[in-house]
Amino acid sequence: MMLLFLFVTFCFASTLAIDADFPPAEMIENMSWYRSVCMRETGSSDEQIALFNRPETIDAPRDLQCYMYCMFRMHNVTRPDGEVDPIDVYHAIPKRFNSIALKVLVNCRNAEQEGKDLCERAYLTHKCWKATEPQHYFLF
Ligand SMILES: *[C@@H]1O[C@H](CO)[C@@H](O)[C@H](O)[C@H]1NC(C)=O
Ligand SMILES: *[C@@H]1O[C@H](CO)[C@@H](O)[C@H](O)[C@H]1NC(C)=O
Repeated sequence: MMLLFLFVTFCFASTLAIDADFPPAEMIENMSWYRSVCMRETGSSDEQIALFNRPETIDAPRDLQCYMYCMFRMHNVTRPDGEVDPIDVYHAIPKRFNSIALKVLVNCRNAEQEGKDLCERAYLTHKCWKATEPQHYFLF
């Protein structure tokens, strides 16, 4: 089990994995404050977020990439150097989604590597999560 965790080199956070009633209404409510802070900080919009939540593969514009990074930061799942800590992400996700989170985190452990800065790295991570578990992906 420990080894498995060591291999989980990547994150989760503003996204969540769920079942039928995903995302739960109280989660959306809890996210709304962070969401507005990060939209203001990055210039991202409701439209960009809604578009990315569509099932198709969609490239995120720069503003939205930075929004994804902002949400990781606001959820305290980043290290001092700004990189996302997958174990912190795992713990930030409600326990009932543990198995989905583990699958996604393991599968996407190196997804960020080609990203040239923190925004792009956050986006590549989200992109991998969405591709791995499309039915459980949701960007808050
Ligand atoms: C929403 O926030 C409340 C109060 O901080 C907390 O008790 C609850 O567990 C949160 N719900 C979710 C789904 O995170
Ligand atoms: C992150 O940490 C700050 C400072 O401790 C705290 O105010 C904030 O509620 C935390 N964010 C979350 C999503 O727990």
